[in-house]
Amino acid sequence: MSVTVRVPAKVNVQLGVGGLRADGFHDLTNVFLAVALGDQVTASAGTEGVTLSCEGLGAGLVPLDGSNLAAKAARLLAAHHGLPEPTVHLHIAKSIPVAGGMAGGSADGAAALLACDALWGLGTPRSVLLELAAELGSDVPFALFGGVALGRGRGELLEALPVGGTFHWVFAVADGGLSTPAVFRECDRLREAAGLGSSDADVPTPALSADLVAALAAGDAKALAAALTNDLQPAAVSLRPTLAETLDTGLAAGALAALVSGSGPTCAFLAPDAETAAALAEALRVSGTCRDAHATHGPVPGATVI
Ligand code: C5P
Repeated sequence: MSVTVRVPAKVNVQLGVGGLRADGFHDLTNVFLAVALGDQVTASAGTEGVTLSCEGLGAGLVPLDGSNLAAKAARLLAAHHGLPEPTVHLHIAKSIPVAGGMAGGSADGAAALLACDALWGLGTPRSVLLELAAELGSDVPFALFGGVALGRGRGELLEALPVGGTFHWVFAVADGGLSTPAVFRECDRLREAAGLGSSDADVPTPALSADLVAALAAGDAKALAAALTNDLQPAAVSLRPTLAETLDTGLAAGALAALVSGSGPTCAFLAPDAETAAALAEALRVSGTCRDAHATHGPVPGATVI
């Protein structure tokens, strides 16, 4: 017997970054939107301990040891139920760029929680799965939640936001990843260099954008384009200056807006419709300013057993 879970990637349509807290995290005003580009995680009976395999985009970069969030999820769920060391095999089919700022590792952690819960017949309440997800990482709860949601705290305290339609996106995948902690550190460094300070005493947590909320509720892509913000973008571009070219290329090819996805280096482009998104992806692919580009849409539901 096996259980397969499909899980979406995310793009942050507002990533408001407050100051550095004493615990090493930043308070966020983080609006996540789940997109159809996603991974699949299959849990099946293993032979010894938690074992992993991986295929697909960037599979060679995915750690197959206990550090993988999918393996941590299986162990955390078992421990929560007082079960002995679990025996399970987790196979990850990747389409989400690895270390790309689209929460691919977090998605696999969320998918593994759900897949193991079903495989082991535990029936863990959703509220508990969300709490376990938050223990695994700041972006893991949203991969279970899906749709569009405001994440406060370090991004794990979620509240659904209403959405009035489907948005069309293109994601340009870069060569190599960026480390999320390194991008947050660069954000702090740039704030210090600008004389703003970087601690939570210096930098207030940004307010949720009312224009963004209205654009999402109306399903208005042009208004959404005008309201997109990512406070980590200057830091990602500082660490990877070539991203500026990728962003410019997408804008010149008809994107309504271009921004770095989360901590990058994947770049996200909002398109007015599916045809423009397909053409934009092709223009980005041939431009040589990215490794590959994918047209997709969102919002879509969170992790789902298929
Ligand atoms: O929660 P997660 O393990 O995904 O976070 C990875 C790292 O990203 C943290 O150790 C921290 O350096 C940074 N981070 C942060 N503020 C957040 C979320 C993540 O500084 N709200």
